[in-house]
Amino acid sequence: MSTQVTEQETETEPETEQKSAHQQRRLAEKRERAGMRERAEEDLSGTEETVKIKVFRFDPEVKGKEEPRFDTFRIPFTKGMTVLDALIYARDHFDSSLTFRHSCRQAICGSDALFINGSQRLGCKTQMSDLEWPVRIEPLPHADVVKDLVVDMEHFYDQMESVEPYFQTNDLPGADEEQRQTRENREKVKMSTRCIWCSACMSSCNIAAGDNEYLGPAAINKAYRFAMDEREGDDMTEHRLNIIEQEHGVWRCQTQFSCTEVCPKDIPLTEHIQELKREAVKSNLKFW
Ligand code: FES
Repeated sequence: MSTQVTEQETETEPETEQKSAHQQRRLAEKRERAGMRERAEEDLSGTEETVKIKVFRFDPEVKGKEEPRFDTFRIPFTKGMTVLDALIYARDHFDSSLTFRHSCRQAICGSDALFINGSQRLGCKTQMSDLEWPVRIEPLPHADVVKDLVVDMEHFYDQMESVEPYFQTNDLPGADEEQRQTRENREKVKMSTRCIWCSACMSSCNIAAGDNEYLGPAAINKAYRFAMDEREGDDMTEHRLNIIEQEHGVWRCQTQFSCTEVCPKDIPLTEHIQELKREAVKSNLKFW
């Protein structure tokens, strides 16, 4: 019995005498995957505990796989195994076409944010032992799926870019001086600097789901990181407040806290958004 269970029928090869080069390649890949499955099954024969993962699959470029489905893989469980470890095992032993992003494997690059058991999490930071089994793994909601677990991040990056996510100041120090920041000011912006651009917060936000132009929690947090930095000066702070005050900026936030709940770096995103709202109001008050 195969260790891989496909919940929905996968593609069948057309029976033609003369197969195209593409079909030949697909057949060869299929045979290779069958071999990988057999070898993995042999590897598992002595294993005591296994865990099932149900993985979202979708490939718009392959005939018969354009329809979304879930594939189930049985993975040998080891202490300390993360969701990313399980996905890598499934890809390396069962199906080399299984597609997902990852890089650092230590919650720094932000590339493996996934929808795991109904919540946005980093695959590399989520222990299998902390989850209910079988584990359901899907791409981030509210983003277009490119293939399997890979989503299109273009819109998220556009929103991040729109808040000018880099340090800007007219108040430069002299040639031999440092651009000093007080200890208190560093503490104030510390948490906001932890963002790893994973977009888990954006994916969890109902407002962002309904308003494609909403800046979103990550971009607003990035604006906070610089608006609160005393080294940028008053003119830049005002410029940044003007950006986040726009129609699709901070005022769209309804304080639902979903972004704060899912942030893998524990950034108090909702708090930062509320503080920017207060700063925006204060900057608009005029006392004559
Ligand atoms: Fe880099 Fe998970 S692989 S954050």
